[in-house]
Amino acid sequence: AEKSERETSAAEKLISIAAEVASCHKCPLARTRTNTVPGEGSPTAEIMFVGEGPGRDEDESGRPFVGRAGKLLDELIASLPMRREDVYIANIVKCRPPNNRDPERAEVDQCSNYLTQQIEIIDPLVIVPLGRHALGWFMPELRITQSNGKIFRNGNRVLMPLLHPSSGLRNPEHMRMLRDGIHNLGDAILEGIRV
Ligand code: URA
Repeated sequence: AEKSERETSAAEKLISIAAEVASCHKCPLARTRTNTVPGEGSPTAEIMFVGEGPGRDEDESGRPFVGRAGKLLDELIASLPMRREDVYIANIVKCRPPNNRDPERAEVDQCSNYLTQQIEIIDPLVIVPLGRHALGWFMPELRITQSNGKIFRNGNRVLMPLLHPSSGLRNPEHMRMLRDGIHNLGDAILEGIRV
């Protein structure tokens, strides 16, 4: 199908952000990364998933959520009325922190403008922060286990936080919560999201 003007323009803007990220040296993570991981998906996605930062597989491939947690995310997305290429998947930081440590405050502060721009361009119906660290960037007052699968308004944005898939892989109760949460996300999309 022919792409709308909005889709073409959003796609171009996202490509230019990815190019900026690829040559970014604003923080020390630039020295240890193999590849930058700007994010991928539909430029006009209704759902935007936001993780914490690339792991080893993502650093090696330059693509978000392609390792074990990514396989689980794929499976969760498969239960939604859309495909992986119809959503957008990004991270708070675009370069892998060594040994998958948490990104430092300064690294998040230097990097997060890329995410802010991606959100503005894509303008998703709902943002899904994955895990405590991603949620903390949007709404630090929320607790991830309390807010999993619930809808929140954050300024002009609608959020539905979910536990991080890697935490579902470690903890069967978290796995159940993730499946419930993604079910709520599917319902919210089908019903037309209201806060
Ligand atoms: N975990 C994340 O938070 N992001 C990825 O891209 C992969 C694993």
